[in-house]
Amino acid sequence: MRGRILSGMRPTGTLHIGHLSVLENWVKLQEEYETFYMVADWHALTTSFDETGFIKEKTRDMLLDWLSVGIDPEKSTIFIQSHVPQHAELHLLLSMITPLSWVERVPTYKDQIQQLGEQGKDINTYGFLGYPILMAADILAYRADTVPVGEDQLPHLEFTREIARRFNYLYDHQVFPEPQAKLAKLAVLPGIDGRKMSKSYHNDIAITCTADELGERVKLMVTDPQRIRKTDKGNPDVCTVYTYQSLYDKETLCETEEACRRGEIGCVQCKKKLAEKMDLSLKPIREKRYELEKKKGFLEELIAEGDKKARSAAGATLDAVYDAMRM
Ligand code: TRP
Ligand code: SF4
Repeated sequence: MRGRILSGMRPTGTLHIGHLSVLENWVKLQEEYETFYMVADWHALTTSFDETGFIKEKTRDMLLDWLSVGIDPEKSTIFIQSHVPQHAELHLLLSMITPLSWVERVPTYKDQIQQLGEQGKDINTYGFLGYPILMAADILAYRADTVPVGEDQLPHLEFTREIARRFNYLYDHQVFPEPQAKLAKLAVLPGIDGRKMSKSYHNDIAITCTADELGERVKLMVTDPQRIRKTDKGNPDVCTVYTYQSLYDKETLCETEEACRRGEIGCVQCKKKLAEKMDLSLKPIREKRYELEKKKGFLEELIAEGDKKARSAAGATLDAVYDAMRM
């Protein structure tokens, strides 16, 4: 039998090219596993409970990006968390058996409260405390055995296994498997200023950028700051353009490196070459996205179908849960 995967993303709106490696991994996993991919809109509420007006639009934009990159509704169940009430139901049941000390000691908990507190945002809520239980409910509602996540989510997965074990033990039934993290070696792209790529830093490149926009963004990329004239010897190791080339222009990477070190290529020319390569690579995604945007009602139908499949799978789990609890 194929393994089952659940993974999710918060609705962030249109994605940037830093998200591509995660999504491309999801696309690959569709072939090997039964996959459930979720828009985690309730999770968004833990930090943005006062900005709910954008969630619908952001969900839509993000889903169009998923599909453009190759998440395939024929192969994966694509759904929205808040349309599957079983997540909330299981969250409640699991919260009854979770010792308070377990949620309080999740390493990201106090850090995030402090971090957001410094930005003037108070997320010291009951809901935020329960975040790991909600995430556990997301995964366990499908009895998923595999969860592709980034390293930052590992404590949450360990937490999920602990709850699964505790439930199975308390009610003396093997209702839940203990889900394993699937870490992929993913390329990490910096933003155009060399810092971590993030929409809030305005240093990102949207995956739907046009050729012109790509040219503009690449032009702004930081290069070797020591290099002023194009005959200056450069150091690609400290150049963001070069980091991008190692992903988007592998074929001529050695040549670029040598030419830079010898001072035989100018940054303007080097950037132009990168922008062209990136355009070639992103064009199919952009074109698919245009196609999908034109289809009226298509996304709504797709979501309705995914929601239905998700509710049915999660419903079966809840039946097993109440059976085990003799309720
Ligand atoms: N917490 C994840 C994030 O912020 C999103 C998420 C919610 C998730 N539920 C999940 C990921 C379940 C994997 C499995 O990125
Ligand atoms: Fe970077 Fe290319 Fe300029 Fe070298 S020539 S510093 S690799 S942009």
